[in-house]
Amino acid sequence: MSSTRNREEMKRLLSLLLLVCALAATTGFGGDDEVNEKSTSPFMLEKSEQVVKTEAGEVRVVRGFGPASMLERGAFSISSMHIGFILMEPKTLFIPQYLDSSLILFVHRGEAKVGWIYKDELVEKQLKMGDIIHIPAGSTFYMINTSRGQRLHVICSIDNSESLGDGPYQSFFIGGGRRPASVLAGFHMSTLTTAFNITEEEMQMMLGSQYGGPIVLLTSEVAERMDRRRHRRDTRRKGMLDVFYDEVQQVEEGVWEWRKLLSNVLGGSSGDRRNKNKGGPVRAPEPYNLYDRNPDFRNDYGWTLALDEHDYHPLKHSDIGVYIVNLTAGSMLAPHVNPRATEYGVVTRGSGTIQVVFPNGTSAMNAEVAEGDVFWIPRYFPFCQIASRSGPLEFFGFTTSARRNRPQFLVGASSVLSKMMGPELAVGFGVTEEQLKEVVNAQREGVILPSRPLHERRG
Ligand SMILES: *[C@@H]1O[C@H](CO)[C@@H](O)[C@H](O)[C@H]1NC(C)=O
Ligand SMILES: *[C@@H]1O[C@H](CO)[C@@H](O)[C@H](O)[C@H]1NC(C)=O
Ligand SMILES: *[C@@H]1O[C@H](CO)[C@@H](O)[C@H](O)[C@H]1NC(C)=O
Ligand SMILES: *[C@@H]1O[C@H](CO)[C@@H](O)[C@H](O)[C@H]1NC(C)=O
Repeated sequence: MSSTRNREEMKRLLSLLLLVCALAATTGFGGDDEVNEKSTSPFMLEKSEQVVKTEAGEVRVVRGFGPASMLERGAFSISSMHIGFILMEPKTLFIPQYLDSSLILFVHRGEAKVGWIYKDELVEKQLKMGDIIHIPAGSTFYMINTSRGQRLHVICSIDNSESLGDGPYQSFFIGGGRRPASVLAGFHMSTLTTAFNITEEEMQMMLGSQYGGPIVLLTSEVAERMDRRRHRRDTRRKGMLDVFYDEVQQVEEGVWEWRKLLSNVLGGSSGDRRNKNKGGPVRAPEPYNLYDRNPDFRNDYGWTLALDEHDYHPLKHSDIGVYIVNLTAGSMLAPHVNPRATEYGVVTRGSGTIQVVFPNGTSAMNAEVAEGDVFWIPRYFPFCQIASRSGPLEFFGFTTSARRNRPQFLVGASSVLSKMMGPELAVGFGVTEEQLKEVVNAQREGVILPSRPLHERRG
């Protein structure tokens, strides 16, 4: 009885696999067959919310998960994550704040310096294109680029598993004033004047000066002074005179008053950081550059690279993996499944098609994607990505598990099908082993598959 049932199950599973193959064979290489309207594509995340907008930059967030109905079916277990896009003009500062969510920042374009509180110390890291850094929930951070040059584009995962559940995430500004308000402003004035040991006038000056919003432009003068101070800090050991000089300058620079606040609010005196630096700087996690590493897989048709906690240990804290894929024109990342993780992706270059399959072997989505599009693929759902013939397709994203995900490929050399090749599989498909071999072994490439020459299509 039960073995008959098992065989039935197996047969169903295999017909699903066959369907995936069929899907790949018939529509895969062109990607131009009946492509659904995006608005009906359940695995595209389209509605981005503008969370911050100033003349100096903006933050947009695309909330994780598809339509609520997909979730209510309860068929899949997913952890929640949003995808954030931070854009900063040259010579700007994202003022100090902490969030109720942890972030993994990925520098897509441009360069910046990120400062954050790590083990009670302010640490700063220079980030360049391809760098990844983890900012824990509750850790105050800022982001700055003092130079002229490129705009900064950052893509980040916003892991809201520890969030207050208010909006996509909640910011608590430390630096601030009229707009945005600093969290300090919520305390009674007498508490603040006592805590800071300053007069009410001084306190009001400090909390009433910022009008620029969360991302502010820096004047050349301020930017230069920041650079000078940073340079001194970087190149010299502090003598007493330098410490004094810094202190004076900080008081002069209204904008930078928050530095003092930061150390006051978060414990320690304002000289804390410098004093400790004399004994050697804190060892905060270094950023990890995705482009410095060799791909995990590469052939003539593209490459893939995935980062988990074994490669970059800060990922363990957030339980999020990072990946990047680059397909040459017309190539496809073979139909595959993530057995352990839900995947979020952002198209960072080019265009193409994404196909997703329901457990019952029907097409769940066949959508055209282009740069900036965000998609998500629930755990267990078979899917594939295909670059358009006009150019390479590059996408970057996050998986909800920092453990090794090991995607299972359904088609191609090294796929589940080729590994399972045998009488069981043949019977499952209801064909002879020879017939099965002919079909399964026809594709010599694995993981990333070439496009078919145009004249052979549906030949
Ligand atoms: C700011 O960005 C430019 C490139 O646009 C880069 O050369 C410079 O080093 C960056 N500055 C900082 C402080 O990150
Ligand atoms: C407060 O400031 C005054 C000088 O303005 C100083 O004499 C006093 O020691 C300070 N108190 C504390 C607790 O730092
Ligand atoms: C992706 O591949 C294209 C060529 O196919 C190349 O021009 C591009 O630089 C690659 N992207 C990355 C991030 O290496
Ligand atoms: C397959 O499953 C999807 C989602 O559960 C459903 O919408 C669709 O109607 C099903 N199709 C068939 C043929 O069972």
